[in-house]
Amino acid sequence: MIIQPKIRGFICTTAHPVGCAKVVDAQIKYVKAKGHFEGPKNVLIIGASTGYGLASRIVATFGYGAKTIGVFYEKGADDKRTASAGWYNTAAFEEQALRENYYAKSINGDAFSHQIKQQTADLIRRDLGKVDLIVYSLASPRRVHPDTEQVFSSVLKPIGKTFVGKTVDPMRGEVKEITLEPASSDEIAQTVAVMGGEDWEMWVDFLAKENLLAEGVKTLAYDYVGPELTYPIYKEGTIGKAKEHLLQTAAKLQAKLNPYHGQALVSVNKALVTQASSAIPVVPLYISLLYKIMKEKGTHEGCIEQINRLFKNYVYGDLGAVRDQDGRARVDDLEMERDVQQKIMGLWGDVNTENLGELTDIEGYRDEFHRLFGFGVSGVDYSAEVDPVVKIESIGVG
Ligand code: NAI
Repeated sequence: MIIQPKIRGFICTTAHPVGCAKVVDAQIKYVKAKGHFEGPKNVLIIGASTGYGLASRIVATFGYGAKTIGVFYEKGADDKRTASAGWYNTAAFEEQALRENYYAKSINGDAFSHQIKQQTADLIRRDLGKVDLIVYSLASPRRVHPDTEQVFSSVLKPIGKTFVGKTVDPMRGEVKEITLEPASSDEIAQTVAVMGGEDWEMWVDFLAKENLLAEGVKTLAYDYVGPELTYPIYKEGTIGKAKEHLLQTAAKLQAKLNPYHGQALVSVNKALVTQASSAIPVVPLYISLLYKIMKEKGTHEGCIEQINRLFKNYVYGDLGAVRDQDGRARVDDLEMERDVQQKIMGLWGDVNTENLGELTDIEGYRDEFHRLFGFGVSGVDYSAEVDPVVKIESIGVG
């Protein structure tokens, strides 16, 4: 099969196995170059195949020598379709991990379900004994509640009042105005049910009940805050409500982990191009400006740099006690620097379709979007035939 990108709105329906493998390899090389550290030994990553979760798995393995179990929801290839990017990423990750004698096994299925939690618990008991780090990095548009089978869908909407603002269609290069009507109370509740902390708590409760938490166990989840101009759609919108719930859950989990001398931590990470963030209105335009300014300043980071810094400084390092007023670790510090934000505010009003290429790093945004699916990676011959069926060592071909 000759595999080319097929972009529909904010997703790409194809992925390239060789390109994805190269992107994963670059992340592994970055972590290995930073050295080897003392930290977690047995790690469970929920949402381990792309974005921040994949970066967490790579840092845990190649930076700390940990054994990892990764849970995700991805598709293998069939006659007509390529596998999803997270499938190819995991195949490449496991191959390298095994080659270097690191334990790595993966479970593909719905992390919200009781069945996948049970399967994961059984694997932990059999192969690891207990876990000392649980990273919760799910981003999903829907959740089937495991007890009631009720289906919840998350929406990205403002709360309380209509939002009128700017956004960009990154592929077309068009800046346009969008109007978003406020969410109903049911939509808010559904978004909290999908992206809030209930499932995170269910995971920790279940693993505790199964006696699979090690002394000193830590659990981590990821949050975003961003600047005021994205508040109506992020911090003060439906997703922000879900993140508030995540933070409240961290406090509950902290109390539950005290007997283990453990820790439940929320980290505020930087805005980055991932499959999840490209679906959020306004954010892609903000990211295009942010990338330009941070790249010029020399402070730009991707998922792997962010998670490497999070683990080294905050989770297993000297800054362990440094928290914001809500008790969170902040690796969005470089994004939120005053001069960076002032420049973005200064440009926000002026940016339009005509000057988009000049004022923002829309090109960088597009490149990174393509790279999420293994496209636009140097050294890959995209005109060559490639077998889309790729085996994940611990799962098989799909
Ligand atoms: P992503 O879309 O790259 O990754 C989502 C992961 O969740 C994938 O591994 C996917 O397979 C898995 N997943 C989705 N539904 C699942 C299900 N039902 N069962 C099992 N696995 C499932 O997302 P990203 O951006 O890495 O987000 C991860 C977390 O980081 C989210 O909580 C997000 O809010 C947060 N975050 C993201 C930022 C960004 O700019 N991308 C910034 C700060 C925080």
